[in-house]
Amino acid sequence: MTSQAKISLVSAALLASLGLASGSALAVQQGDILVRAGVANVSPTGESDELTSIAAGAKVEADDATSLGINFTYMATDNIGVELLAAWPFSHDINGMGSISGLGKVAETDQLPPTVTVQWHFMPSNNIRPFVGAGVNYTTFFNTQTTGALTGVGLDLDSSWGLAAEAGVDIDINSDWFVSGQVWYMDIDTDATIGNGIGTYSVSIDPWAYMIGIGTKF
Ligand code: NI
Repeated sequence: MTSQAKISLVSAALLASLGLASGSALAVQQGDILVRAGVANVSPTGESDELTSIAAGAKVEADDATSLGINFTYMATDNIGVELLAAWPFSHDINGMGSISGLGKVAETDQLPPTVTVQWHFMPSNNIRPFVGAGVNYTTFFNTQTTGALTGVGLDLDSSWGLAAEAGVDIDINSDWFVSGQVWYMDIDTDATIGNGIGTYSVSIDPWAYMIGIGTKF
């Protein structure tokens, strides 16, 4: 083999290995649409104001809820993504607090918290791709009803607009699929109207939301 031929061979091998290397990474770039689906948990941190028309010192808070989440990220540039978070409804128990903490569960509600964030992807061409984001959350409540000791008391929850912040990481499994972990903080506050208008009270929900999922890109 001539030295020229050896150089050609080595070059070909290098090119092939480069091709394999880039082929094995699910690099993200402008124009890609990332889709992630998985298990999502919404963990509220807030509680209501004092529900004076129920009892002095009465408060409520929403319990954790788990559901299925799905989100779509459009890469506007190699580094900037726009994500829509969607989900199946989350069903939350609403528990008595303060002077009515002994009542346990007093209501339940379902909610959907669609959230749009603009993300910064730090290392879009890596096999491990961390990102952060900020945006807006809209939450709508439905199937809201009282139960237990408050059965029969009317309850209505207004929808909520608020800011959201997000962090996450995608980790390649192979050239088509990745696992993802994401966390959001959502500023969700609702007005609860009790007993056909005998009182309206602010309820802070302000949850952390977590999602572990698997993703791919188109
Ligand atoms: Ni809040």
